[in-house]
Amino acid sequence: MADNANIPKYAPPSGFDIPDRQWPGRTITSSPIWCSVDLRDGNQALPNPLGPDQKLEYFLLLCEIGFKHIEVAFPSASSDDFAFVRRLIEENHVPDDVFIMGLTQCRSHLVERTFESMVGLERGIVHLYAATSDLHMEEVFGLTRAQTLKMVVDSIGLSRQLADKEPGSDIRLEFSPEEFTATDLNFAIEVCHAAVETWGHATPDKPMILNLPATVERRPPNHYADMIELFIRKFPNPENVVISLHSHNDQGMAIASSELALLAGAQRVEGTLFGHGERTGNVDLVTLACNLHSRGVDTGLDFSRLPHIAKTVARLTGMPIPSRMPYSGEYVFTAFSGSHQDAIRKGMARLDKSAERFGLGWCVPYLHVDPADLGKQYESLIRINSQSGKGGVAWVLEQDYGIEAPKAMHPEIGAAVQRLSDSVQREITSSEVHEIFNDEFLNPVGPYELLGYWPRPDDDDPTHIHGEVHLKVRGEEKTLTDDGNGPISAFVHCMRKLGAPYFTVDDYHEQAIGKGANATALAYVPLKFDDGQVLFGVGRDTNIDQAAVLAIVAGLNRHAKDE
Ligand code: KIV
Ligand code: ZN
Repeated sequence: MADNANIPKYAPPSGFDIPDRQWPGRTITSSPIWCSVDLRDGNQALPNPLGPDQKLEYFLLLCEIGFKHIEVAFPSASSDDFAFVRRLIEENHVPDDVFIMGLTQCRSHLVERTFESMVGLERGIVHLYAATSDLHMEEVFGLTRAQTLKMVVDSIGLSRQLADKEPGSDIRLEFSPEEFTATDLNFAIEVCHAAVETWGHATPDKPMILNLPATVERRPPNHYADMIELFIRKFPNPENVVISLHSHNDQGMAIASSELALLAGAQRVEGTLFGHGERTGNVDLVTLACNLHSRGVDTGLDFSRLPHIAKTVARLTGMPIPSRMPYSGEYVFTAFSGSHQDAIRKGMARLDKSAERFGLGWCVPYLHVDPADLGKQYESLIRINSQSGKGGVAWVLEQDYGIEAPKAMHPEIGAAVQRLSDSVQREITSSEVHEIFNDEFLNPVGPYELLGYWPRPDDDDPTHIHGEVHLKVRGEEKTLTDDGNGPISAFVHCMRKLGAPYFTVDDYHEQAIGKGANATALAYVPLKFDDGQVLFGVGRDTNIDQAAVLAIVAGLNRHAKDE
C-alpha cells in the first residue's frame, strides 16, 4: 500500500484563468427555460417515493405552475416509471406546450426501453447521461475516456435511429456529462460535441440540450460560472444547443451557482420545487425563480399560490418544508423582533411615498418582495414572541381586530403581552393578544362594577352636568351624585366622593368600531394617579360618554390590582 501520510485530505479545487471573463459584469434580465426534475431526481431521493396517483397530481401541479420541460421518470429503471410515462400519454395528461422527459443511461437496451415508453408522444425529450469525470469513469465503471466517448456516441447514434422511426413525434435529445464540474473541461466539450454531431438533428429551432451538472457541489459558484463561460466560448456551433444547468446543493450554494452560471450564458435550469433531490437536494426552483421575480424578471412561473403549492408538495412527499426556507417557509414573511415590526408597519403605510422616492412600487424595510405576490397575507407578517415590541402588538390588534389603541398606551399593552410570552415561552397568537387586551384593559377584574351612570345637563346651564352613579364596590351597592363641567368630570367627582384613589384624566382617545346602527365606541382613558402612575382603562359602549366612564372604572380596577 502507498504511504499517503503526506497527502493532504482536502485541497482547494484549481480555478480557471480567464483574464477577460464576462459573467461578473452581467445582470440576469430574462428568464431561463425551467425544467422540473421533481418526478425523477426529486422522487428517487424521497424516503417514500411517490405512487402513480401522487405522481400524476404532482405532474399536474407542475403544469399549472407553468413548467414546459418536466422530467417525469427514469422509464428503463422500473416498470412503475415506464407505466407512468405510458399513463401520461395514453390518458392525454400532457398539455400541448409541455415536453415530458425521460432519463436513461447510455446503454442500448435502456435507451430502447426509454424510446419505447414514449411511443405516441407528440413532443418529448430523451435525456441520456454518462459520467465524464476521471474519478467516476475509472473507479465506478472501469472506463477510460475513449471508452466513455464511444459509449456516448453509440447510444446517441441509436437514439437517432429510434427517433427517426417516429417521424410524427417531436422527440428532442438532452445529454448530460454527469459530474461535469469534476470533469476535465476539454473532455466535457469533446464528448458533448460528439453527442451533438451524432444526433445530427440539432438546429436553432430544435436545439439539443447540453445539461452541465454540478452533480456534487465540489466547487464554489464562481468556478461553475467560469466553466460555463469557457464551455460556451469553446463549443463549436453553440447556436444549435441550449446550455442547461443542474446544480445540487452539497455546500448550500446551489442557488448562487445557478445564478452565476446563468450570468455566464446558460439558458436553462433543471431543479426541483423546494430543493428535493439526492442528499442535500437539487437547486430549489422556487427560490431561484422568486429571486428573479424580485428583480423584475418575468419568469413565466406562477407562484402566486405558493402556500397551496408548498402544502401540496409537503403532503405528497411526506417532507415538511423548513420554516425558514426562502419564500416558502412559514416564517419568511414574519417579523418577531419589535424594531423590525415597527419598520415594516411604517414601510407598508408609506408605500405610495416610497414609490415616489425610490421609483419602485415595492420598497418596504425588511421585506424584499411583496408577500401578496406569493399568495401570502399581510396579516400574518407580524408575530409575537418575547422579543416582539409594543409596535407589533399594536399592529396585531389593529389588523386583526380593528383596535386602534393610542400610541401612549402601546407600552402598557406590549408589557402585558410580554409577561405572558415570558411565562409560556412560546409564540403568542393573535387571539391571545386580543384576550390580554380584553382581560387586562377592557374588563379587568377588580373592586368596582358600574351598574349605571346618568349625566344630566343643568336646567339653567347645559354645560354644567349633574352626575348620578350606581355601582358596586366589592359587591356592595352604592349611589353617588356630584357635578362637573362635563359628563366625565362629574363622574370623576363622584368617584372621588366614593373615596377611590385620587386620579385625574387629562385627555382621552376614542374610536368608533363598526358602522351605522351597529357602531360602538371604544374609549381609551389614561388615569394619572397621585403616585405618578399612569394607567389606561378601556371602555366600550354605544354611547361615547358611557364608554369613557367604563374606561375609568377599568383603570381603577387595574390600579386596585396593582396595589
Ligand atoms: O446530478 C446529476 O448529475 C444528474 C444527472 C443524471 C443529470 O442528476
Ligand atoms: Zn441530479
